[in-house]
Amino acid sequence: MDSNPLKVGIIGLGTVGLGVIDFLKKNKSTITQKAGREIKISGISAKTKNKKRELDVSKFKWFSDPLALSNDEDTDVVVELIGGEDEPAKSLIENSLLNRKHVVTANKALIAHHGHYLALLAEEQQVSLNFEAAVAGGIPIVKTLKESLCGNQISRIYGVINGTCNYILTQMENDEQEYSKIFKEAQDLGFVEKDPSLDVGGIDSAHKISILASLAFGSRINFDNVSTTGIESIDLIDINNANAMGYRIKLLGLASKSESGVSQEVEPCLVPKESLFGKLEGGTNIVMVEGNFVGHTHYIGPGAGAGPTASSVVSDLIDIARGNIMPPFGQKTNQLNVSLHAVEDLFSSFYLRFLLTDKPGTLAKLAGILGKHDISINRMRQLYHKDENAPVLIVTHPTKKALLISAMEEISKLEICKNRPVHIKIVDL
Ligand SMILES: NC(=O)c1ccc[n+]([C@@H]2O[C@H](COP(=O)([O-])OP(=O)(O)OC[C@H]3O[C@@H](n4cnc5c(N)ncnc54)[C@H](OP(=O)(O)O)[C@@H]3O)[C@@H](O)[C@H]2O)c1
Repeated sequence: MDSNPLKVGIIGLGTVGLGVIDFLKKNKSTITQKAGREIKISGISAKTKNKKRELDVSKFKWFSDPLALSNDEDTDVVVELIGGEDEPAKSLIENSLLNRKHVVTANKALIAHHGHYLALLAEEQQVSLNFEAAVAGGIPIVKTLKESLCGNQISRIYGVINGTCNYILTQMENDEQEYSKIFKEAQDLGFVEKDPSLDVGGIDSAHKISILASLAFGSRINFDNVSTTGIESIDLIDINNANAMGYRIKLLGLASKSESGVSQEVEPCLVPKESLFGKLEGGTNIVMVEGNFVGHTHYIGPGAGAGPTASSVVSDLIDIARGNIMPPFGQKTNQLNVSLHAVEDLFSSFYLRFLLTDKPGTLAKLAGILGKHDISINRMRQLYHKDENAPVLIVTHPTKKALLISAMEEISKLEICKNRPVHIKIVDL
């Protein structure tokens, strides 16, 4: 093994970039011992040199053009911590790989969109493209799928992988407040991305579940096939109803593999309150992986923040320092399957909420349409009401989502239906 220091260029000095520099400094002796060689910073870059930050930039070689760092002969690894699915992050990584430099990134958007192309390039150039920090912050789930569970046939991988959404849903329940108020509070606290749809629209979770699905199922990354629903239309009433029935609402990333292909979804789901998923508070993440020999395994930890994310970036650097170079998705990139896109074909129960005109025959009509679509009712309750419209809650027996959706479309067109009917999948974890 090479005993020379590993020379690392860090591009992006925000939350994660500064976290990595701090980590490399404070844990220097542990890192050197574990890596078998020193990890040294060869240069740094960000957008604005003179920005006020908790780092004395004069102690490092500054590159005003980040692309120059990817050409720097004195740099072995480029660490991309800018973010964003396109420029300048994409060219920066591409150029680094073309220059036969290893790359470490925390950029899930970029990996979800361009991961396949970049992985092919990394392999061709015989360098690493590591992205542990791109999914679930400090939880080492990428390495777990690439290495520890790699002999298992994985059938399902479920996760709560966006801390902001989990924070908002938890606070709505704790404070008994509607989405709009808690969303505003989360924004004021700086928890929400500049483009909120990345968080609350489920896109960030979709980036992450597409990466996990590829690692788990040996399939080519396919972000475009993630069916994505965010949390913007979750009402407090549904959180309270779920609570009364022993459930909590969580935004889940769900990927499963069956004979018909790979299904990838992000959607709010009801999970049992007493399950590990149900007990998850605030910004913590959880991932469940089901393998044919290992069974169910769970991974819980901080999904973001300087320290946890830096921990993942540094572990990627230590791998490179040790000379562990693996294909980015855990197997030869050109042998990843192009999997068929499967509509979720697992059976699930659903929570349904309707507002129906309170007159004879209404419930019979509703039950008739559900029956016609082969959906049977497990529990049904009509709630107290003063006016002519009655709130009705139903929990179905397990059914296929496609059947449920056609039934809901038909019911929503009926004269007796006075709301946009709500349906939320129940996942018994
Ligand atoms: N924050 C987390 O907890 C977390 C967790 C997991 C993954 N990630 C991922 O980690 C990456 C970095 O996130 P972050 O939270 O650290 O972001 P951040 O705090 O917004 O920092 C971004 C950094 O990139 C620099 N930058 C922006 N545009 C640039 C350009 N054109 N050229 C050079 N530098 C540029 C900025 O420079 P200035 O400082 O000069 O403005 C800033 O230092 C993202 O991909 C994110 O998704 C973050």
